[in-house]
Amino acid sequence: MSSPSRQRPLRILIAFGPTEEPLDPVRYLTNRSTGTMGRRLAEAARARGHRVQTVECPKDARTALRLQSVLEKAWPRTDVLFMAAAVCDVRPERTAEGKLRKTRVQNIRFVKNPDILAGLGRRKKDRQVLIGFAIESASPIESGFRKLRSKNLELIVVQKVTINQDPFGEQRVNVWLLDGGGGVQPEKAITKIRLAALLVREAERLHAEKN
Ligand code: CTP
Repeated sequence: MSSPSRQRPLRILIAFGPTEEPLDPVRYLTNRSTGTMGRRLAEAARARGHRVQTVECPKDARTALRLQSVLEKAWPRTDVLFMAAAVCDVRPERTAEGKLRKTRVQNIRFVKNPDILAGLGRRKKDRQVLIGFAIESASPIESGFRKLRSKNLELIVVQKVTINQDPFGEQRVNVWLLDGGGGVQPEKAITKIRLAALLVREAERLHAEKN
């Protein structure tokens, strides 16, 4: 268990879990995120004495658009955002009011959801810290740095996923922590509890550097 931080408490916002995009009253699009990383981060940040606000998908914000509006509202009062939500990249152009017949399901048209993190990154104040998460199959480090820069993040946590390497749920993961200075910190077979404690300390360090 981590000891309390000697720094002043930070306002830490943690978004996690999968968004859901309803197609009709009975079907929706989602992904395999379980929200475990976000829960462990909230525990670790509270144990260090920080003021933590969580936004759990789909319970607190079901869709990507809803999550965007909740986070945009909370963002000005936030020192550090851990964006661990698994946002569906697309949503149906419209949600059908009645149950779709199977012949209609294959004709559903999808539109792109906004990139929530990139939007917050564009409006980030100098004192704020943004930490993203990425799950990659191909060239994880290269793709991670591309996302770190395009979304204007201080840190990104990259995990690899293949059919045989499954990072979902409560298990040890292999991750790389990539930072804005080009640093790569590999963490092999780390539990999400230990990773969460490490990330909260990284967030404290990054915030102290900027303030
Ligand atoms: N993210 C977001 N809004 C989206 C998609 C992703 O805020 N519409 C955030 C995620 O919460 C995560 C980070 O961006 O912290 C990286 O997510 P990822 O799905 O890896 O990246 P994408 O930009 O969606 O790129 P791609 O799916 O093409 O790999």
